[in-house]
Amino acid sequence: MDRRRERSAAWLARSERVIPGGAQTFSKSPRSFVQGIAPNFLARARGAFAWDVDGSRYLDYIMGLGAVILGHGDADVLEAARAQMEEGVSFSLPHPVEVEVAEQLVRLIPCAEMVRFAKNGSDVTSAAVRLARAYTGREKILCCGYHGWHDWYIGATERNRGVPEAVRRLTIRFPYNDLDALHRLFGEHRGEVAAVILEPVTFDPPSPGYLEEVRALCRRHGALLVFDEVVTGFRLALGGAQAYFGVTPDLACLGKALANGFPLAALVGRADIMHLLAEEVFFSTTHGGEAVSLAAARATLEKLERGEGVASLWRVGARLKERTNALLAEHQLTEYIECVGMPPFTALRFRGRDEGEQLTLRSLFQQEALARGILTLGIHMLSLAHTEADIEWTLEQYAEIFAVIAEAVRQGDIAARLKGPPVRPIFRQA
Ligand SMILES: Cc1ncc(COP(=O)(O)O)c(C=O)c1O
Repeated sequence: MDRRRERSAAWLARSERVIPGGAQTFSKSPRSFVQGIAPNFLARARGAFAWDVDGSRYLDYIMGLGAVILGHGDADVLEAARAQMEEGVSFSLPHPVEVEVAEQLVRLIPCAEMVRFAKNGSDVTSAAVRLARAYTGREKILCCGYHGWHDWYIGATERNRGVPEAVRRLTIRFPYNDLDALHRLFGEHRGEVAAVILEPVTFDPPSPGYLEEVRALCRRHGALLVFDEVVTGFRLALGGAQAYFGVTPDLACLGKALANGFPLAALVGRADIMHLLAEEVFFSTTHGGEAVSLAAARATLEKLERGEGVASLWRVGARLKERTNALLAEHQLTEYIECVGMPPFTALRFRGRDEGEQLTLRSLFQQEALARGILTLGIHMLSLAHTEADIEWTLEQYAEIFAVIAEAVRQGDIAARLKGPPVRPIFRQA
């Protein structure tokens, strides 16, 4: 089952000389994959599959870190992008496609009355934070989840090197589903909180009434509510988590799946707040109006609205989640591994006696999955290209993989079965 990886190894050696960390995203870097087993470089991708530089094919459950929602190389999106490329990529004045995509977002997303575009999720979470500070005249930010690489957020994590202390002090993280914690923080920072920004859901569902109460708390304390929908946008529902849960924030941040892998992000929200971006609040980028990605977004959104769309992610994802958990039970692994999350993006949650054991378990899973042709970080970022047959095939592989893991657990030799060093997390595990 071992796959060739001479070319991957050669590219990695070249990369390490010129690219610190060997990738542009931590999650794609060698630290996130069991080295010696994992391919380090991919050459091409189509539908739900990707091929590494040595020619091996994988069923892709990472999908460009959730960016590719229709499937790699979607014909309609490529056609729209090619047509736009012929007309022009970067113009010296706005192009009508900016208006068209903004109108689509206003129609689809509950809180969206106005829209501004950028390239990365980080661009728009940072824009939301600046806008909220300007609108409220306050400085403190309460946040929950991951919001990108910029100072205001990363300063509040353990990876805060290089972020000034003065900036770090302004952002405070709070735990999800813990209303008491949020009440307490609003009390401690009375009259100072500009915004609460959170991922409306990750892998644990919101407790009943949680999002509604966060909404109400923000109103009561005069803070803006920002949903970071960089992952949930277009995935839980076309209108994002806010449409799915029926809780409307003041602002929302979108990215990832918006243009099926073309780089595009959007800040959307209430017109009275967004109007500040016209003049007073500075948010301005060279590539924000880049037309090819916008044309790709227009085609992506049109396609998601036609046919089964997001419902396909739910249907296929529910089967994968249900059967994965059933297989884990059959192999008496429920204590160690659980498939969690909403069907369109689930994750395998690994539990060990300590972080080390958890990482070796995660690594053994990844090693065995890669050997069988599954490209995985332990998450299932589904696309419309993932078919029922792909899921059934995955489940057959999982049955074999869980048998290996169950045996390793029984023998107490999980680490000894690894053919390379275990993966290293980007942030400490909670
Ligand atoms: C919820 C969330 N917000 C923001 C970001 C940052 O987006 P980007 O990496 O495009 O800057 C990410 C990226 O993974 C994300 O998952």
